[in-house]
Amino acid sequence: MANRVVVGAQWGDEGKAKVVDFLTEEADYVIRFQGGANAGHTVEVGDDKYVFHLIPSGLMHPGKVCVIGNGVVLDPAQLLLELGEVNGRGIATEGRLFLAENAQVVFPWHKLMDLLKEKAAGKDAIGTTGRGIGPCYNDKVSRNGIRVLDLLDEKGLREKVSKQTLAANELATRMYAGLHEGKALEADAIFEEYRGFGQRLRPMVADTVVLLNEALRAKQRLLFEGAQGTILDVDHGTYPFVTSSNTVSAAACTGSGVGPTAIQQVIGVVKAYTTRVGNGPFPTEISGEMGERLRKIGGEYGATTGRSRRCGWFDAVVVRRAALVNGLTHLAITKLDVLDTWDSIDICTAYRCEGKSISHFPNSPSVLEKCEPVFETLPGWKQDTSGVTRWEELPRNAQHYLARLSDLVGVPMGLLSLGPKRHQTIELGL
Ligand code: IMP
Repeated sequence: MANRVVVGAQWGDEGKAKVVDFLTEEADYVIRFQGGANAGHTVEVGDDKYVFHLIPSGLMHPGKVCVIGNGVVLDPAQLLLELGEVNGRGIATEGRLFLAENAQVVFPWHKLMDLLKEKAAGKDAIGTTGRGIGPCYNDKVSRNGIRVLDLLDEKGLREKVSKQTLAANELATRMYAGLHEGKALEADAIFEEYRGFGQRLRPMVADTVVLLNEALRAKQRLLFEGAQGTILDVDHGTYPFVTSSNTVSAAACTGSGVGPTAIQQVIGVVKAYTTRVGNGPFPTEISGEMGERLRKIGGEYGATTGRSRRCGWFDAVVVRRAALVNGLTHLAITKLDVLDTWDSIDICTAYRCEGKSISHFPNSPSVLEKCEPVFETLPGWKQDTSGVTRWEELPRNAQHYLARLSDLVGVPMGLLSLGPKRHQTIELGL
């Protein structure tokens, strides 16, 4: 198998975890490289369902090694919670899960600032997950961050926690006066809690750059698991309604310490339609009863926050942008079965903006605001596809629909998913 990166090619929640779980069979290492506990990755194994926020989705395969890379912002309490759950269900993680010593750590002040900033923004709020992701990346870039290795240095940790707590309390009372109803953060309590986290995580902490590069030298196969989606990327998404990390394939390198020459395949996961959670533009959004129907059939409720996801038709303009910025080699199309009952299905092929046709996703929010989707309508197939195991068994109209998506995006299909279970997957030539 090639070394692969799996990324979301829309606004997140495309079904990456299921694709990663499926592809783990052909990998030795599975690596998370960006984002944090804002992600909600659902994996179904037999009758069991797991929702991971930090643990790579490959963990359910015995013997595979999982790595949380340096590009991830790590919430230690969340990681320990997830570990407790998987260990409690009899899955061993010892010697199989490694944590980059240079990954940034999420602290209580990050979550507090996330909430206060959102409150202060009012109607302009981004609709973040409230997991402290933006403020943690903010501290990283402004060089005030605290990393995993700092959790293991008690003296240094105490000093850093005192300094950051003081700064956060000042901000909360001065800049966000009137919005902050809770108590001030207590440095001693935070220090004790995080020192404890450090002790519990110590056996997993490693120089994962060396680990992964040695794995490459030993011809081990790496599978990189992206979080969120391309149009939530801080550079390439609908800025400012984005997350705070680069979600595109290039981040697999910066977020793990592996060079780009190690990667051969980039798989863009897309739903057969589109969803978005949080605020921001969404040209193909369907309102009213039809949108509600898609939400219900697709089970479109956030795995992290439980929020209802906004639903819309497949947007080829969005996915074409994802093909460019990720260098997609294949598409993995998920949730086709959700469209089984529709009489006809729309695909957005381009946008119309002030009388002109646009085929590239615009960077400017004010241009995007004026864009109307240009739809092409295809007939539905009105047949249950959830049990289909081969391309040839798919209804003719479903085949046409999929071929049209791939054609409009200019990327071949590599995988098709027709339900949440591993066996509801068709490999189409990866
Ligand atoms: P943040 O990542 O919590 O800062 O949220 C920024 C934006 O990204 C919000 O619109 C979130 O709803 C969205 N977002 C963050 N993580 C995910 C995800 O895993 N799936 C879908 N949307 C996400």
